[in-house]
Amino acid sequence: MDGSGNPVIMLRDLRKSFGQVLALDGLSLAVPAGSITGLLGPNGSGKTTTVSILSTALRPDGGQALVCGLDVAARPAAVRRLIGFAGQFAAVDPNLNGRENLRLIGRLSRLPRPVARERTDEALERFGLAGAAGRLVRGYSGGMRRRLDVAAALMHRPPVLFLDEPTTGLDPESRAQLWRLVAELAAEGTTVLLTTQYLEEADALADRVVIIDHGRLAGEGTPHELRKRIGSAVLRLEFADEQAAVRAEHQLGAQFDASERNGAVLRLASQAGSSAVVGAVRALDGAADPVAVQIREPSLDDVFLTLTGNAASASHQGGAR
Ligand SMILES: Nc1ncnc2c1ncn2[C@@H]1O[C@H](COP(=O)(O)OP(=O)(O)OP(=O)(O)O)[C@@H](O)[C@H]1O
Ligand SMILES: [Mg+2]
Repeated sequence: MDGSGNPVIMLRDLRKSFGQVLALDGLSLAVPAGSITGLLGPNGSGKTTTVSILSTALRPDGGQALVCGLDVAARPAAVRRLIGFAGQFAAVDPNLNGRENLRLIGRLSRLPRPVARERTDEALERFGLAGAAGRLVRGYSGGMRRRLDVAAALMHRPPVLFLDEPTTGLDPESRAQLWRLVAELAAEGTTVLLTTQYLEEADALADRVVIIDHGRLAGEGTPHELRKRIGSAVLRLEFADEQAAVRAEHQLGAQFDASERNGAVLRLASQAGSSAVVGAVRALDGAADPVAVQIREPSLDDVFLTLTGNAASASHQGGAR
């Protein structure tokens, strides 16, 4: 909430189509001030469309998007002064150095020259780029570019920041570094809406998670609340080959609240607790003997699977966990 108790970002029944493709199908959500909200969803679920509308790059077909109470379609210029946006692809110029990029962005945001210089120096320091300030951005690592891009989005000191997949493609250390910076910004009062494919990112960073699927809300809450909703146990079975996993899925799938198979690995989620899960393994009774059995508490990954029926891409990259 802002000082008046209203959400800083508000979507009401937002709709957007691209020709025959329905990208947003009546999405509603509210983001309180000073919080980090993670927008999670499978590929094509409407995450980028949502932040593009909020950052005034796209117009909605229907419904309303408000930033600090301003309608993004009716007041785009005013909204742009309130927001910073770092998209999926860095907007900085590879043929300028880091310092030149930030000064340029500062001047484009109509900051007086001395202010642009001062903020540039502060941002370079804060984002760990002071040593690389004089190097051409084309020679920056992915993590450095990302940090510069976020620094650029903040040059006009907006109270609201949108980040579209800020850490995709970064190594774990660069990711952790960016997480720290985003958490710091939120602690100082910036309201952050970030999209991500990484459930662990939402878990680590987001106060609230909004899961969307096919342009609609599929679930929302704190990571803790969402995990609790899944129930008590997740069973992971690994088989010697895919056929055995298929047989087991056939036999057990109906007894569980969610099931997902990835090759020879089968994951099943249950509301009924670990005793029911153990019973299910017994029921397999030689039809398909697992080579590894794991019973654990639900993860955000499991929540995602249950709510969208999609395995998150993060888990696909490393195979089912
Ligand atoms: N400019 C466009 N023209 C046509 N279709 C589009 C366009 N932009 C998005 N779409 C479609 O709208 C749907 C939502 O796309 P969007 O980019 O918002 O998804 P996303 O959740 O960001 O996906 P990803 O995880 O792959 O980034 C998809 O079906 C996509 O193909
Ligand atoms: Mg996207």
